[in-house]
Amino acid sequence: MISDLLRFPRFYRYPYYHWGKAFSSLLSEADVADDATIIDAPCGDGVVTFWLAKNGFRNSFVLCDIAERDVNRARKLKDWPALRNVEVKVTLADIHDLKVTCERTRDVWFLINSLFLLPEIDRLFEKMRPRVEHVIGLFPDISSRNYRCYKKRHPTMNANEMDRNEVSAFFNRHGYETKKTLDASFIPHHCIQPMRLQQIARYGLNPFGNLVSKKDPCYWVGLFSRID
Ligand SMILES: C[S@@+](CC[C@H](N)C(=O)[O-])C[C@H]1O[C@@H](n2cnc3c(N)ncnc32)[C@H](O)[C@@H]1O
Repeated sequence: MISDLLRFPRFYRYPYYHWGKAFSSLLSEADVADDATIIDAPCGDGVVTFWLAKNGFRNSFVLCDIAERDVNRARKLKDWPALRNVEVKVTLADIHDLKVTCERTRDVWFLINSLFLLPEIDRLFEKMRPRVEHVIGLFPDISSRNYRCYKKRHPTMNANEMDRNEVSAFFNRHGYETKKTLDASFIPHHCIQPMRLQQIARYGLNPFGNLVSKKDPCYWVGLFSRID
């Protein structure tokens, strides 16, 4: 842990530490094939892969994002001892260009905090379905105070905003059933003002994540499995 904190302190930011536990719990419950690749896309700086590897998952990983600075950070994950003997492929690419062959595979796709902002999501899912057996997705709870604060600052973000029922219906339309959902974090960190305090909050909130009331979840995470 100390060596991680010296090398990768940014991965300990709130709320990823808590989300990492939820991702690992859903991945353990899914019927994941031994040879399944974990697709982390869009990956940002690789924080999702970091927590999965940290929690013991040793499948091969495929990461992609269009932001060059983040992809360069994610590439450094391969230097981390926990991933030294694991195949980790990080690509600077549009998610629509991820490789999918005609062959049906049993891969797992981590689609974290991104469905609402990606373009052409129907086309994306049509393409990914043969490759992906399970999707583990994280979504903002759009009825939460946290999301209202976020939208005030980023009104044009998230063109595909959906509530929980609409997300499940979307997956169903694309041939996936909702297997399980979990609330993922509860501190409305987007409401913290001024911005300087937000930086402190990013690293200071982890210990309080389990102490707050569980009434108003900020995010939720779901396991969606392909209907064969
Ligand atoms: C909210 S971030 C989430 C990233 C990562 N899943 C995480 O949790 O840190 C959304 C990401 O989507 C990426 N993105 C947006 N459009 C994209 C596209 N067409 N193809 C690939 N990545 C895209 C952005 O660069 C950004 O890193």
